[in-house]
Amino acid sequence: MQDNAGLVGGVGSGYLDGIIDGLVRDGFAVSPGFAPVSLVRALRKEAMERDQSGEFKLAGIGRRQDHQKDTRVRSDRTCWLKAGTLAQCQWLEYMEALRVAVNQSLFMGLFELESHFAIYGPGDYYQRHLDAFNGNNGRLLSVVLYLNEGWQSEWGGRLRIWPEPDASRIATEVEPRAGTLVTFLSEKIPHEVLAATHERYSIAGWFRCNNTTADWLDPPR
Ligand code: OGA
Ligand code: MN
Repeated sequence: MQDNAGLVGGVGSGYLDGIIDGLVRDGFAVSPGFAPVSLVRALRKEAMERDQSGEFKLAGIGRRQDHQKDTRVRSDRTCWLKAGTLAQCQWLEYMEALRVAVNQSLFMGLFELESHFAIYGPGDYYQRHLDAFNGNNGRLLSVVLYLNEGWQSEWGGRLRIWPEPDASRIATEVEPRAGTLVTFLSEKIPHEVLAATHERYSIAGWFRCNNTTADWLDPPR
């Protein structure tokens, strides 16, 4: 551990050791209260405004030439973050602290983050999937931050997590409560979003490795 880790209290620093321990032990970590309510509110407000102005699109699966819309697999709507607001900058600051801590402890070589808002309307879902498969999209580490204040258990909308790609028994389920951050290894941890009875807001993000070389440019999408 670095001398100053945990002492200076940089953004999210109180959570970073727990996240790293979880990743090592289980391949995932669940951190209730990771983001403060003020930030969660600002991000949710932004998502709602951008939704009102028609910026959300039916989510796709795969990227570039493989990109397809298949509502049998997922039915949520998404909108990519484009930095510029204070709330987004704060989110990026938290994620940068996480990126640096994970690289220092686990040598994962996390390079850049791509993230989008997602809205699941009542009945929307995302079937069991992995966020990356054989390094296809450079995604190494996935994060999900929930933006739902006052979420009730009976509304559903849990994130179901399995411990490894072929597992049949689940590892845990997470309620999408405001401020909870879920972090997991993109290639190892299958997960599924269960349908909810209420609108469900989140930010999903992926830390990617750097696949760009002298003769191959590898943009996120
Ligand atoms: C995803 C995803 C989980 C969630 O967007 O790939 O799995 O709980 N999201 O929103
Ligand atoms: Mn996913």
